[in-house]
Amino acid sequence: MRYGVISDIHGNLEALETMLKFMRKEGVEEYLFLGDIVGYGADPGECIEIVSNLPGKGVAGNHDWGVLGLTPLEYFNNSAVKAVEWTREVITDTQLEFLEKLPLVVEREDFTLVHATLERPEEWRYIYSTYEAHQNMEMMKSSVCFCGHTHMPIYFVENRHITFGKEKLIELKENHKYLVNVGSVGQPRDNDPRACGVIYDTEKKIIEYIRQEYDISRAQEKIWKAGLPEFLGTRLQYGE
Ligand SMILES: [Fe+2]
Repeated sequence: MRYGVISDIHGNLEALETMLKFMRKEGVEEYLFLGDIVGYGADPGECIEIVSNLPGKGVAGNHDWGVLGLTPLEYFNNSAVKAVEWTREVITDTQLEFLEKLPLVVEREDFTLVHATLERPEEWRYIYSTYEAHQNMEMMKSSVCFCGHTHMPIYFVENRHITFGKEKLIELKENHKYLVNVGSVGQPRDNDPRACGVIYDTEKKIIEYIRQEYDISRAQEKIWKAGLPEFLGTRLQYGE
């Protein structure tokens, strides 16, 4: 099976469409999505429509839960709060219901999906260090777990020791555990503005990071036209 794994779309339709077009061309059969379909960007409803029609599985993120009222707004910074409130006004009840039905964790033989961490996923903690990654890996039942949330593409690998890597291609080995942060489709923060995601090939046993240039100025213009905070548009061109 060839899976396309995407996270943190954040209402960025231009980035999402570009990434999906590339993945389809690359022979992706199913999609795994890791939450934060909405928040920050100007097309949350359109992004939910597209994601809800993809074959595959997915989980909810903190911004999805913010829009649903399940994560209190005190948790978010000012511009995120504005985006959450704006998103509530523009998405439909059916789109809201789709977000509401998303679980926080999906566990299958070939993969585990979570937005933030497996331990208390509803607390939306961040994994930056090998120590934090190790805690998460203790709870993994499959050898591969995909996560998002930090918008930083990085993977952790554990055998007897735990290390991390940022190479484009991961060749999966027996008796190793992998925690793979797939980066962000719609708001990368690793100083590379291109949309980010991964392709997971279970037969070839590889995970490959994908970067795709997309129409950033169009996404920015829509953010500004919607009256969302200016910074939410500006940051897209810097990938920060
Ligand atoms: Fe996010």
